Amino acid sequence: MSHRVVASIDRRALAHNLDIARRHAPQSKVLAVIKADAYGHGLLACAEALRAADILGVTDIEEAERLRAHGIHKDILVMQGLIDKSDVRRVAKEGFQLVIHRVEDLALLETELSRVHLSHKLTFWLKLDTGMGRLGITAAEVQRLHLALRRQKWTEEVILMTHLANAGMPQSPLNTTQVLNFARSCQALAEFTPQTSIAASAALLALDVQGDFVRPGIMLYGSSPFAWKDVERRREKFGLHNVMTLQARIISIQQHNTGDNIGYNSQFICPQPMRIGIVSIGYADGYPSHTPNGCPVLVGTQRTVTTGRVSMDMLAIDLTHCVDAQPGDMVTLWGEQLSIDEVAAHTGVISYQLSSGVSPRVPRTYR
Ligand SMILES: Cc1ncc(COP(=O)(O)O)c(C=O)c1O
Repeated sequence: MSHRVVASIDRRALAHNLDIARRHAPQSKVLAVIKADAYGHGLLACAEALRAADILGVTDIEEAERLRAHGIHKDILVMQGLIDKSDVRRVAKEGFQLVIHRVEDLALLETELSRVHLSHKLTFWLKLDTGMGRLGITAAEVQRLHLALRRQKWTEEVILMTHLANAGMPQSPLNTTQVLNFARSCQALAEFTPQTSIAASAALLALDVQGDFVRPGIMLYGSSPFAWKDVERRREKFGLHNVMTLQARIISIQQHNTGDNIGYNSQFICPQPMRIGIVSIGYADGYPSHTPNGCPVLVGTQRTVTTGRVSMDMLAIDLTHCVDAQPGDMVTLWGEQLSIDEVAAHTGVISYQLSSGVSPRVPRTYR
């Protein structure tokens, strides 16, 4: 099929990257984070490709229900917790696991669960804020809430979790602070031997803090959670395989003279005669609008760069040295030979944003 723009997803690479996660945490169960439509890769296809995971993590009930409706009967964790009281019934109906990150959630659960017939008990992930400053209950509240949840007849298990703010910067002292804070809270509940979860991709790869469950996301998609300039921690150093290849078609090629303007706001003026290709991808497809001149792309296997402001449906590239390039050829915006992490570094956004920002109008194909 001749696409204008396409994101092709390599399912075997996903399964391979899951294996890498397991190898880094052989004692832990793996919660594969497939929230945000599997970081833009497609929720259902990725859930299937990651069937070897122990449990799947999604953003909200809608994503969890999509998985169930698709016949995925694996454990599913709703990571953002309750948004609305009606969520409680939906969680109960499908037996989803649920993050509890507010003290008020307990009363909501008590009220709503007293009104439904439960065919199975529920597992909760009690989220502690150990220093991230985002979601979670404080150390002062954890014991009370843990006991109150455990006491309920509808509770199967309460897992303790936290999330590290700076795991992508392994030397940050905040990592040690958070790990210690978490350990202290777990210690206070040691008599219940609660299962624990602390590590997402970065902590899994660079810190020795796995817990009973690890929660990798970005590494499953073949991207390193560390900065591009951290050359020892690029994806290939961990053996991660590329998952998404984003490609778009050259729709026009023009010869330009020195001083010619290319695109909006004169972001690029030709410094010499140049052959400029117009590629059919723009910010409405998810390619960042503020990308500077000089962002790498591949024409075949040849590297070249963007020239000028990214438009809604188009961007311009330098084809001066790509003498064989023709209208109709596909250009790779990121993929195996051009890491999404390198493109992220050039565009000034994180790879998470690049892949999850590929817009719904871009077809995903799977191999
Ligand atoms: C609570 C939690 N766990 C795990 C992850 C996965 O993180 P990563 O994609 O860095 O592996 C996220 C991602 O935002 C998260 O919020």
